Amino acid sequence: MKISKVVSAIPPSQTLAIDAKAKALVADGKDVVSFGPGEPDFDTPEAVKNAAKAALDAGLTKYSPAPGFPELRKAIATHYQRDYGLAYEPAETLVTCGGKHAIFEAFLALLDPGDEVIVPAPYWVSYPPMVEIAGGKPVIVTTDESTGFTLTPEALGAAITPRTRMLVLNSPSNPTGAAYPRAALEALAKVVVERDIVVLTDEIYEYLVYDGFEFVPFVSVAPGLKERTIIVSGFSKTFAMTGWRLGYALGPKEFVSACAALQSQSTSNMPTFAQKAAVTALALTAGDLAPMIDAFARRRELILRLLTAIPGVTCFRPQGAFYVFPNVSAYYGKRDGDRVIENSFDLSDYLLEKALVAVVPGGAFGADANVRLSYALGDADIERGIGRIADALAALR
Ligand SMILES: Cc1ncc(COP(=O)(O)O)c(C=O)c1O
Repeated sequence: MKISKVVSAIPPSQTLAIDAKAKALVADGKDVVSFGPGEPDFDTPEAVKNAAKAALDAGLTKYSPAPGFPELRKAIATHYQRDYGLAYEPAETLVTCGGKHAIFEAFLALLDPGDEVIVPAPYWVSYPPMVEIAGGKPVIVTTDESTGFTLTPEALGAAITPRTRMLVLNSPSNPTGAAYPRAALEALAKVVVERDIVVLTDEIYEYLVYDGFEFVPFVSVAPGLKERTIIVSGFSKTFAMTGWRLGYALGPKEFVSACAALQSQSTSNMPTFAQKAAVTALALTAGDLAPMIDAFARRRELILRLLTAIPGVTCFRPQGAFYVFPNVSAYYGKRDGDRVIENSFDLSDYLLEKALVAVVPGGAFGADANVRLSYALGDADIERGIGRIADALAALR
C-alpha cells in the first residue's frame, strides 16, 4: 500500500526503538541492563491509583468534554497558582494524550507551511519530526557544555528570520538534564518579546530538579510572555504515570479552543476515570514525591561518579530530569576486531550486543558525540551496567 509522503518521511522514535530491541533480548532470556527508557521505575502513587478505581466504581466511564474533564482543568490552573503564583483560568488549559500530543497539537494549531521553529540541540527526539508533520521547518541551533547546554540570547537572536514563528524550550531537558536558571530565561525572554515569537516551553520534568535548583516556569520571568507562551507538561514523569497517557497544555484561550476543535475531530477526550485520578495527582506536592526525587538525586551522583571514572568519558552535571548525557566520542574511530565504531549509533549497537547494555545514541537528539543514559533504575543495576560499559569500551582498540 502506498504511504503518504508526510508519513513515510517520519523516522520511528529512537528511544522507543532501543527499548524494543532491549526488550526483545530480554524475551530471549538475555540479562540486559537498560539505561534506555525515559520512564520512572517507581509505581504511580497509591492515592492516584485508588482514585482511578473509585472513579470506575462511581461510573466515570463516559465521554468527557474534548478539552478535558472540568475538574481536572481547574486542578491544572490551581497547580500553577499554588506552585508558581501564575493566574490561569480553566479555559486556558487543555488535557491531552500525554505531553507528547500537547506538543503535536501546538505545532498543528500554530504553524503554517514553511514557518520556522527554532529547536535548540540536543533536543527531545520528537520535536523536529512533529514540526515537519505540521508543515513547518525545524531550525536546529546547537548548544554545548560551554553554556551548560542552554541556548544563549545571542544564538537565539542570530537564528531568528522573518519566517520564525516559534522557539521550543525544554527545561529540565531530555536528553541532557540541563535546566535554565531564572537569569538565562530572562535574557531569552527579552529577545522573544522584542522579536515577537511564540514559545513552546516543555516543562514535563518540572519537579525533578536537584541540589536545590529552583525550577522557574518561563512564562513567569517577564511581563508580556503569557500571551505568547504555550506551556506543556504532563503526569508521566513527575507522577510516574507514563502508561496513563495524560498530559496538558496551558496557553491563550484562542489556542486552547483551536486545540479543543482538533481534539474533538481526532482523539476526543482522554479516559474520564484517568482524568479524575489525575486531579488527585495534582494535589500532591514536590514534598509528597520526595522519596522518588531523592532516589533520583542519589542515583545521579552514583552514575556520574562511575561514568567519569571511565577513561576518555566526560559528563555534564545535569540539574534535573533523570538522564545523563556523557561524551563518548573519544572511542569513535576505534575497533573491536572487524567492527569499527564511527558514531553514537554504532557505539549503542556495540554496547547492546557486546555488553547487553541499552543506551540511546546521542545522534537521535542531534548530538552525535554523546549517548543518553536514564538513571531511572536501581543502584545495583546502575553499578552492573556501567561496569559492563567500562569493560566493553576497554576492549576497543
Ligand atoms: C521532554 C519531553 N517532553 C514530552 C514528553 C512526553 O511525555 P508523555 O507523552 O508521556 O507525557 C517526554 C517523554 O519522554 C519528554 O522527555
